[in-house]
Amino acid sequence: MAMATSLVISFCVMISLLGCVYAQQQPRAFFVFGDSLVDSGNNDFLATTARADNYPYGIDYPSHRPTGRFSNGYNIPDLISLELGLEPTLPILSPLLVGEKLLVGANFASAGIGILNDTGFQFLHIIRIYKQLELFQLYQKRVSAHIGSEGARNLVNRGLVLITLGGNDFVNNYYLVPYSARSRQFSLPDYVRYLISEYRKVLRKLYDLGARRVLVTGTGPLGCAPAERAQRGINGECGIELQRAAALYNPQLVEMLRGLNQEIGSDIFISADAYRMHMDYISNPQAYGFVTSRVACCGQGPYNGIGLCTPISNLCPNRELNAFWDAFHPTEKANKIIVQQILRGSAEYMYPMNLSTIMAVDSRI
Ligand SMILES: *[C@@H]1O[C@H](CO)[C@@H](O)[C@H](O)[C@H]1NC(C)=O
Ligand SMILES: *[C@@H]1O[C@H](CO)[C@@H](O)[C@H](O)[C@H]1NC(C)=O
Repeated sequence: MAMATSLVISFCVMISLLGCVYAQQQPRAFFVFGDSLVDSGNNDFLATTARADNYPYGIDYPSHRPTGRFSNGYNIPDLISLELGLEPTLPILSPLLVGEKLLVGANFASAGIGILNDTGFQFLHIIRIYKQLELFQLYQKRVSAHIGSEGARNLVNRGLVLITLGGNDFVNNYYLVPYSARSRQFSLPDYVRYLISEYRKVLRKLYDLGARRVLVTGTGPLGCAPAERAQRGINGECGIELQRAAALYNPQLVEMLRGLNQEIGSDIFISADAYRMHMDYISNPQAYGFVTSRVACCGQGPYNGIGLCTPISNLCPNRELNAFWDAFHPTEKANKIIVQQILRGSAEYMYPMNLSTIMAVDSRI
């Protein structure tokens, strides 16, 4: 141990003392990219309709106030931070993200976005994925100003990254309206192939920007969201077309990640099988302490799946009993189940390894 430490230190002195001292003392930084499932409030700073800034969003959050998170309480990035003993990462647009706070990482996610630039166009000013990557570059410049470019590089290389993307490319693009432009352009299998090839470019860029441990979540069972049960499901079953889309997309995503890792020669990208994680409690809600996985806690119409969650919507009294918070997003309780699988799941859930293994392996480097 002592020898390993002195080896690291002498190596540090050779490259850049300042950067390395920071890298040694700082806990791991956490970076988050993607859509509403992981947006911790960026959209509150934007002129967009995709926002979670009204009651009862945040009703079970420590402040009991809306924060821009699309849940009743903590979202998935919050719970990962808590589990790893990290400070929660602030939205990149938050004015509080300055000084030492920068070293904790940042959340670049923006509700409504997808892999494709045209996904979510109806929400107006959202931070599309290439813009998120551009902000990541600017963030690194800001960090460099504090701890030098070597320190910034270390911080990013040692950081943990989560990216959650893709669901909106179906829900808010291909299937947004009947005969959408994309559905006239592509058959579903061709569209999925196109998405995967575009996503590959995004992930390659993330690697080029310094990311070295990246959790990539597939899409959940899109057809089982209360919105889809209400609008497309027969007798409230999961919508068949969206389920078919997820079933085509997820295995190709895993293959693409495997190929990227092979090309790079290292297990940079870790695939999280969100479909399986969600499906476990959706198909057997009682086993997880839920009363229903069909009816959203907040909303109106069949399954509370129509329209937005607003102050005048139905609201369930106990959010621990519903798997879905609103028409599309899980409750904090469901997010906790997901994060437990991310941390400790078997290779069927987390490939090639789970987050607790990643933390153990990386702490030895
Ligand atoms: C999406 O936009 C980015 C720049 O914002 C561009 O580099 C990229 O090529 C675009 N993707 C497609 C498929 O047009
Ligand atoms: C996942 O984590 C647990 C420890 O919590 C470990 O026992 C298990 O082997 C891990 N699985 C994989 C596939 O890494």
